[in-house]
Amino acid sequence: MDSEWIPPEVDSQRPSVARVYDFLLGGAHNFASDRDLATGLLRVEPQARELAQANRAFLRRAVRTLAEAGIRQFVDIGSGIPTQGNVHEVAQGVNPDARVVYVDNDDVAVAHSRTILAGDERTAVLQADMRRPADILTAPELKKLVDLAEPVAFLLVAALHLVKPAEDPGGIVAALRDAAVPGSHVVVSHLTHEAQPGKTAAIGKLYDRATSPAVSRSHAEILRFFDGWELLDPGLVYVPLWRPDEGDAVDDPERFLVFGGVGRLP
Ligand SMILES: C[S@@+](CC[C@H](N)C(=O)[O-])C[C@H]1O[C@@H](n2cnc3c(N)ncnc32)[C@H](O)[C@@H]1O
Repeated sequence: MDSEWIPPEVDSQRPSVARVYDFLLGGAHNFASDRDLATGLLRVEPQARELAQANRAFLRRAVRTLAEAGIRQFVDIGSGIPTQGNVHEVAQGVNPDARVVYVDNDDVAVAHSRTILAGDERTAVLQADMRRPADILTAPELKKLVDLAEPVAFLLVAALHLVKPAEDPGGIVAALRDAAVPGSHVVVSHLTHEAQPGKTAAIGKLYDRATSPAVSRSHAEILRFFDGWELLDPGLVYVPLWRPDEGDAVDDPERFLVFGGVGRLP
């Protein structure tokens, strides 16, 4: 396989959440250690691929909704390895002037994002750790494209469940909120143990050896991340239920294990 996408500093032995997710979405930017973890995950949750797809579909619907509402700047935190229907493609499909900053701490995600976005003046890639939101908010890459005096959408999609309670995930969202002007938005999706606690506990155990943990949370705990934001309809719901497109199947939504919601800063 073409190996140009492999950055020299990468640790291929330790499973990376970005590369496991890439594998689930059918991508080729992953190593044996990642596929091994993904195989374990598929044993615990045979629908893991469908879950990842449903999460991506939620992300695309939320970005399209916000772009249609006039949001022109997006900061995608924990953006992952580029796949189909990336945030800039969706946002610029609505508004060609939309600007997107991708933020991730994974070497492969950052290197591959830089490769495919090279020369695109309306996007930037920032390697940073979401547990230090001030680093993101003050980064030159962000400042070049995003004016925080104008409404912005921060995306934390399948991201906050990679942050342990002791690392203060709520503080991340609060720091973004405090830096944003009214009319800004936050998009969150998050693993939950509400419907199938045994399954999410087993998933958490599997991710103990990965680059980030998988911390599931209750509906009430995830709702608290929206403190100070007004939740848009239909609230914090299983991702397939968030403004499904016509014809989307929404049977048995709790099997998706992931809640999604969008908040607006009043
Ligand atoms: C499950 S993927 C989600 C990708 C995309 N947001 C989506 O929902 O399709 C989570 C991403 O978060 C990144 N990540 C994990 N911990 C991080 C951290 N502390 N700071 C920044 N990114 C992180 C991982 O590298 C991975 O690319």
